[in-house]
Amino acid sequence: GNYTGGYRPRVHFSPPTDFMNDPNGLFRDAQGLWHMYYQYNPTAAVAGNQHWGHATSSDLYHWDNQKIAIWPPSNTSYVFSGSAVVDTNNTSGFFPDQDNGVVAIYTIAEATGSQSQSVAYSRDGGYTFEAYEGNPVIDLNSTEFRDPKVLWHAPTSKWVMVVSYAAEFTIGIYISPNLVEWTHASNFSHHGLLGLQYECPNLVEMPMLGSNETMYLLQISINPGAPLGGSISQYFPGSFDGTVFTTVDGAARVQDFGKDNYAGQFFYGVPGNDDQVSIAWASNWQYTSIVPTGNTEGWRSQMSVPRYNYLANVSSIGYDMISAPYNIQSIFSQELAYNSSLGNGTILVDYSTVPSGALYFEANLTGLTSATLQGTLNFTFTSSVSGEYVAGGSPVNGDTWLDRGHTYAFDNPYFTNKFSATGEYGGAGIWSVSGIIDRSIIEIFINGGQQSATNTFYATQALDTVRIGASGVYENATVSVGIWGLEDTWA
Ligand code: FRU
Repeated sequence: GNYTGGYRPRVHFSPPTDFMNDPNGLFRDAQGLWHMYYQYNPTAAVAGNQHWGHATSSDLYHWDNQKIAIWPPSNTSYVFSGSAVVDTNNTSGFFPDQDNGVVAIYTIAEATGSQSQSVAYSRDGGYTFEAYEGNPVIDLNSTEFRDPKVLWHAPTSKWVMVVSYAAEFTIGIYISPNLVEWTHASNFSHHGLLGLQYECPNLVEMPMLGSNETMYLLQISINPGAPLGGSISQYFPGSFDGTVFTTVDGAARVQDFGKDNYAGQFFYGVPGNDDQVSIAWASNWQYTSIVPTGNTEGWRSQMSVPRYNYLANVSSIGYDMISAPYNIQSIFSQELAYNSSLGNGTILVDYSTVPSGALYFEANLTGLTSATLQGTLNFTFTSSVSGEYVAGGSPVNGDTWLDRGHTYAFDNPYFTNKFSATGEYGGAGIWSVSGIIDRSIIEIFINGGQQSATNTFYATQALDTVRIGASGVYENATVSVGIWGLEDTWA
């Protein structure tokens, strides 16, 4: 792949060439190496001929592209989304003499329409896979049955699969002792936002801030029919007893207030009482096949940055998933500006000399009291050449907004401009906004990830100037702002 194009993100993963969508088979091996597979069409910059691409990383930012890991079994079938696990105890029997065997569980979609679940095993730690002779392992004669995600449920010593009956707005839960024989256990159906389909479910054990008990979180992606159009993910906090998932309140919580965060997956192999680590596809089915990166640079779609995630009661409905960049400080390359007492002011930085063109920024408002809940944090990234810009603002007591509409390289009715989220002051005297901007993608986080927005944007000229500041802040509150250049992880 050629990573020099102007739209190419430098701290985000994008495919070497051609088309990528969902992250698949995310797992962390015993040595700590992170494996990411992904929906990949190696023959065109649009979806179609789906394989599992593969990349590995020791820090989730510097990726090594690996060979395609899973190929379609015939030229009239495709490998759709799924997951991977490490079968340490050889429950499958595929790994007589090793404890690092990897099993991938995925959907085979036939060109004729049928969708069923298959497995493949890897004896070399996840680089090459052999399809199981007994495939498919679950076949219901359905054309809308896909995206198995498997976890190990220690209390019952069973593998558990969540899988989507996409057109029936139902997630099936299956259990297995050995990853090949699966028994249907229960259904979770017609909850939350339905859209036109349920896709890419995840069931994951999550820490809950302030509690020793973990909870379970069921995440379901819907497409098309998201509230903002096209694709989005929602999550349900709850409990899981090994066969049935129960939500705490039945309410759907939308994961992201932007338009480009879909089909996220949690890594297998992170203990349930640790913050869970996830990556999402940073695009939207409404326009993913026509964004300009395909014609000009020969690739389409990028992943979100890796996120750490946990649950906390911060909003009025509670059980919020806090999601923020994973260990982003590890790729800081230079401090561009830092001011610990900016007050009502603005910092202006020309970042055209940062080789990656990628930045991390953070603005914190501290010392708020119930009597002084006021002030807005603002940020703008501008091209000094064309004047194009991406901007946002975050008031303590109003709607945080983000606008990608003043960039001119892509014009499409579904590629909407403005996004907002009603923030909720958590009461700790603090309000903050942070984010990552990386050539053609911006991710912002309110209050350390209480809410987040992921958005792509396409400017004709590189954005090279940043302004960050605050206005309307009460005099006893403090504003601190920092801006850091990020490493070019693809150099
Ligand atoms: C979600 C999805 C999945 C499917 C895959 C095919 O984006 O539609 O349901 O497995 O993409 O590429």
